[in-house]
Amino acid sequence: MPRGGPDAPWWDRLYETDRPEYIDQPARTVETGKVLRGLDRFQLMTRAYRVCSRLTLAETAGAERPRILELGAGRGRMTQRLLADHPTARVTVSDVNAASVEVLRAGPLGSDPRVDLRVVDATDIDAPDNTWDVAVFCMALHHLTPDLVQKLMAEGTRVARRLLIVDGWRNPGFLAITPLFVLTGGLTQAHDGVISLRKCYSARAVEAMAARCATPVSVRCRFSLPGYLVASLAAAP
Ligand SMILES: C[S@@+](CC[C@H](N)C(=O)[O-])C[C@H]1O[C@@H](n2cnc3c(N)ncnc32)[C@H](O)[C@@H]1O
Repeated sequence: MPRGGPDAPWWDRLYETDRPEYIDQPARTVETGKVLRGLDRFQLMTRAYRVCSRLTLAETAGAERPRILELGAGRGRMTQRLLADHPTARVTVSDVNAASVEVLRAGPLGSDPRVDLRVVDATDIDAPDNTWDVAVFCMALHHLTPDLVQKLMAEGTRVARRLLIVDGWRNPGFLAITPLFVLTGGLTQAHDGVISLRKCYSARAVEAMAARCATPVSVRCRFSLPGYLVASLAAAP
């Protein structure tokens, strides 16, 4: 499945890359730390955490005490925003990277009574069905190959009533933000940022992967400012 979808034009297939990001290489711990710190500054500057928190709470359908699972949380800033935005929300904050979860445990989330911290692979979640109201995966979908995206879709809609995916909108025009990556995290951040943009899935690709998912799921994709793909999924009835 091309990242631009099954009918991606030739120029989109050329734009795509299979080069790995530093944060996908377990041995590159120094670069991974730099990228996550740079990404955090980038997300703060572009108000991404606020947008993702608002989109996540919109999926809770007004639950009084929403149970939320954040997958691929990185530095955990989105969960901090969620807790501030919703005073009775309870959040399980997780990442596949055990070192990232240890950093979270040592920070303010580690002692918050509304927070549970776990190492979780978003494509293989060790939890019973319908444990959470919403599972959310922000700025991380492009790290998964298409077969793993389908596993994420099946697992996310099994353990939560809704799965929300937020990632960059696929368009080569967004390469224009490269100087901002350099500003927030130097060349290391620019390396991963540019690869991320070239690996982002289009809405057509997400819809096609959902249609091929082993467990039937429904999906609704849309564009959100300033440049996000927002996909909301649920197990099909
Ligand atoms: C680009 S960072 C995004 C971090 C954070 N969500 C944000 O918006 O700033 C991608 C994160 O996804 C995590 N990740 C990658 N593959 C994953 C998987 N299979 N399950 C859970 N997390 C994963 C990485 O460890 C990393 O922390």
